[in-house]
Amino acid sequence: MDTEGTGVMTGMLITLEGIDGSGKSTLHASLKDQLADLDPLMTREPGATWVGDQVRRAIKEQTDPITEATLFVADHAAHLEKVVRPALTEGRLVISDRYSDSRYAYQSVTLQGIVPEPEKWLRAMHNGWTIIPDKTFLCVLPIDEALIRLKPDNEREHFEKRETLEKVQNNYLSYAKAEPSRFVIVDALLPQETVAKFVADAIRVEWEAGKKRKGRNK
Ligand code: TYD
Repeated sequence: MDTEGTGVMTGMLITLEGIDGSGKSTLHASLKDQLADLDPLMTREPGATWVGDQVRRAIKEQTDPITEATLFVADHAAHLEKVVRPALTEGRLVISDRYSDSRYAYQSVTLQGIVPEPEKWLRAMHNGWTIIPDKTFLCVLPIDEALIRLKPDNEREHFEKRETLEKVQNNYLSYAKAEPSRFVIVDALLPQETVAKFVADAIRVEWEAGKKRKGRNK
């Protein structure tokens, strides 16, 4: 976690990422139980504040891609100020289901042909104020398997089409390659319990290691 901004943040920020159908929301729910003794703050994007309701409305109404992208960024800003930063300042473990990498991975696709260099544009919008996660678990699986797990084609959100998911997953994999110390790739084809145990154990190791580094006493 980057300590840009105000206050000393002794907590730890963990994010879960992956395409729709990768099982990260199920993983998020399991981690709440498995790590209950650490009293983690479980949160999500979009939707941790009222701004998230507007994002959901924009998705539903299929608004234009720039409005949609900037609403996702607005939701992130509100999420940081109201939820993430206060918890990290209190020294808590924060686990977010989706976070800024979702923007880079998805909106790079939806803004293709609309802004000249979507990923650069998106990263520039976050630079200087976002809080970079300590660790990001990326759930990866074949697109065919993700599609089987999702609703039928005609009921899916526009993000959930095969071509989009393929590009989004490739984006995620390129970020993992570029930042191997932050990303941990999780095989989402493994049984849910196996995935949850693997990630919970890895978070515990990280939490313990962070004690000394961050000057935390629990
Ligand atoms: P989410 O509610 O996490 O859906 P799910 O639980 O099905 O993964 O997110 C809704 C959709 O919004 C999802 O298809 C991914 C997309 N999304 C973006 O395109 N950009 C973002 O920054 C975020 C946070 C989500």
